[in-house]
Amino acid sequence: AQQAPDILSPEFAADPYPAYTAMREKNPLIWHEATQSYIISRYDDVERVFKDKKSEFTTANYDWQLEPVHGKTILQLSGREHAVRRALVAPAFRGSDLQEKFLPVIERNSLALIDAFRETGSADIVSDYATRFPVNVIADMLGLDKADHGRFHGWYTAVIAFLGNLSGDAEVTAAGERTRREFAEYMIPIIRDRRDNLGDDLLSTLCAAEVDGVRMSDEDIKAFCSLLLAAGGETTDKAIASILANLLMNPEQLAAVHEDRSLIPAAFAETLRYTPPVHMIMRQSATEVEVSGGTIPQGATVTCLIGAANRDERRYGNPDRFDIFRDDLTTTSAFSAAADHLAFALGRHFCVGALLAKAEVEIGMNQLLDAMPDLRLADGFDPVEQGVFTRGPQSLPVRFTPAGA
Ligand code: HEM
Repeated sequence: AQQAPDILSPEFAADPYPAYTAMREKNPLIWHEATQSYIISRYDDVERVFKDKKSEFTTANYDWQLEPVHGKTILQLSGREHAVRRALVAPAFRGSDLQEKFLPVIERNSLALIDAFRETGSADIVSDYATRFPVNVIADMLGLDKADHGRFHGWYTAVIAFLGNLSGDAEVTAAGERTRREFAEYMIPIIRDRRDNLGDDLLSTLCAAEVDGVRMSDEDIKAFCSLLLAAGGETTDKAIASILANLLMNPEQLAAVHEDRSLIPAAFAETLRYTPPVHMIMRQSATEVEVSGGTIPQGATVTCLIGAANRDERRYGNPDRFDIFRDDLTTTSAFSAAADHLAFALGRHFCVGALLAKAEVEIGMNQLLDAMPDLRLADGFDPVEQGVFTRGPQSLPVRFTPAGA
């Protein structure tokens, strides 16, 4: 029998793309012992599982991974329970809430971070900007005290270390579990208080939301806020670092974006195709399913390799090239974050925050390019991607002429 590459090994983490190509070519459906799952890697197969037109798949069992650090979140729900929870939270991330309440939050949080380094001539885009910006945005959207943003960032770091802890480091596990307790001790009193003093913020919207007579409990809201650290923080963090890394590695495309800012949405979509922040998503088969000539038995875990599917040569020409001008990646409209890459998944669990992420990256990129017109990588630096389930550049030192010089 064919062996799946060890997707949990350091060699795979260093550069998964050759293994992705080999799987798409030779083993588009393969059993992986370590994760006890069937891995699929071709675009059509991953798209089919996400869309799930014939109700062949259900939510994977993410409890073991998410429960210890977040509690029960929307990602672990399925069926009607999931549909109701989505209807409760999704409106806060689109339409007038996004346009009127949260765009100003995004603008001011991005600017505050850029102001801290614009006069210095150098920065690390990852540690000075990308890891902070989306987390500050979430804290500010929730209407939390600015003085607590630092603590919020500490919990963020502990949560993503916990979720990425493939080697099972005991200290990282303990810090994740401690974070769950501290986060609850901090959030629950704030949620209770907010119920009596509703305002214009995201937390108030979540407290007041009601669908078919169902409302979220304090614990539900706390778990959702905790999930936002990972789902809304880590992903956007990595997307921003990756869009800049990709453009810095392709200076002629960076120059084009500088010149014509209307190319930013295409650069964002191509970044999500070429270097998606989330590389793997799990589902469970509800029935026996035929995929790429093989059979997945009922009740099996299926690992959908977004990172591999997005580079499927059956779907995209020259897939290993970053090209913001490619004509085979379609973005639907200015008001939608949907594109035909798979980075936001598709179907029932399609990313709730896709429009928010798009707004953050577009506003952030415009402000960064304004502040650093001659932005370039520090001499001799090559961005290195890190991570297996989620991936992005580890650091991104840049140089530029300081503002006012
Ligand atoms: C779901 C990616 C930004 C909130 C998802 C899923 C993916 C994804 C792949 C599907 C997970 C699954 O099916 O198991 C991304 C990427 C982002 C991003 C690549 C940035 C570029 C955000 C933001 C937020 C957010 C900014 C909110 C602040 C969520 C939530 C879900 C989700 C709540 C769960 C939806 C459900 O289960 O129905 N995201 N995300 N995401 N995302 Fe995002």
